[in-house]
Amino acid sequence: MNAPTEDSSQAAPAAGPRVTIVVARARGGVIGADNGLPWHLPEDLKHFRTTTMGHAIVMGRKTFESIGKALPGRRTIVVSRDPRWTHPGCESATSLGAAIALAAQPGADPSISTDEVFVVGGEQLFRDAIGVAQRAIVTDIDVEVAGDAHFPELDALQWRVESRSEHRSASGLRYAITDYRRT
Ligand SMILES: NC(=O)c1ccc[n+]([C@@H]2O[C@H](COP(=O)([O-])OP(=O)(O)OC[C@H]3O[C@@H](n4cnc5c(N)ncnc54)[C@H](OP(=O)(O)O)[C@@H]3O)[C@@H](O)[C@H]2O)c1
Repeated sequence: MNAPTEDSSQAAPAAGPRVTIVVARARGGVIGADNGLPWHLPEDLKHFRTTTMGHAIVMGRKTFESIGKALPGRRTIVVSRDPRWTHPGCESATSLGAAIALAAQPGADPSISTDEVFVVGGEQLFRDAIGVAQRAIVTDIDVEVAGDAHFPELDALQWRVESRSEHRSASGLRYAITDYRRT
C-alpha cells in the first residue's frame, strides 16, 4: 500500500473567485434592446454600482460597446473572440473561463478584490455564465418592454433564494432584487 505523500500534485486545486451574475430584467426576461437598456431606473444603476464596486466585472464585447468606457473603481474585463481587442483601462479575454482566470489573479490595482467576480452581461455572456456561477443577483423590473436580448430562466431546482427585497422607484416603477445561490 502506498504511504500518504506530500506530493503537491495531489493537493486540492486553489479555489477560484466566486462567480456572480448581476442582471436586471423586465417581464419576460428582457434585458436589452438595440444594445441598450429599454428602461430608465437610476436606482438599479446605483445598486449595480454599489454591488460591483471594488471588484472585477466581466462583460461581453457588445455590452462594453454600449457602455463605452471602463467603469471607475472596478476592473473591467471584456470578452471577445478577437484576441487583438483592446481599450484603454480594460483587460480582455477570449472566453468567459479565461476572464474568470484573469480575475482570480491580482491586477494593476491591488485594492480590487479577487474573491468574487461579477459577470454583468449581456445575453451571450449570461448564457455561458449561468452554468458556472454560484450566485445571481437579479433585479426584476415590473415593466413590459420590447427587446432583443433576454436572460435565460433560472432553474428552480438549481437555484434557491437567499434574500429578496421589494422596491418602488422615484418614478413609480416597481422592482425587486433577489439574491440567488446555486443549490
Ligand atoms: N439588463 C442587464 O442587466 C444587461 C446587462 C448587460 C447587457 N445588457 C444588454 O444585453 C445586450 C447585449 O447582449 P449580447 O448578447 O448581444 O452581447 P454581449 O454578450 O454583451 O457580447 C457578445 C460578444 O461577446 C463576445 N463573446 C460572447 N460569447 C463569447 C465566448 N463564448 N467566447 C468569446 N467571446 C464571446 C463576442 O465578442 P466579439 O464579437 O468581439 O468576438 C460577442 O459578439 C444589450 O442590449 C445590452 O444593453 C443588459
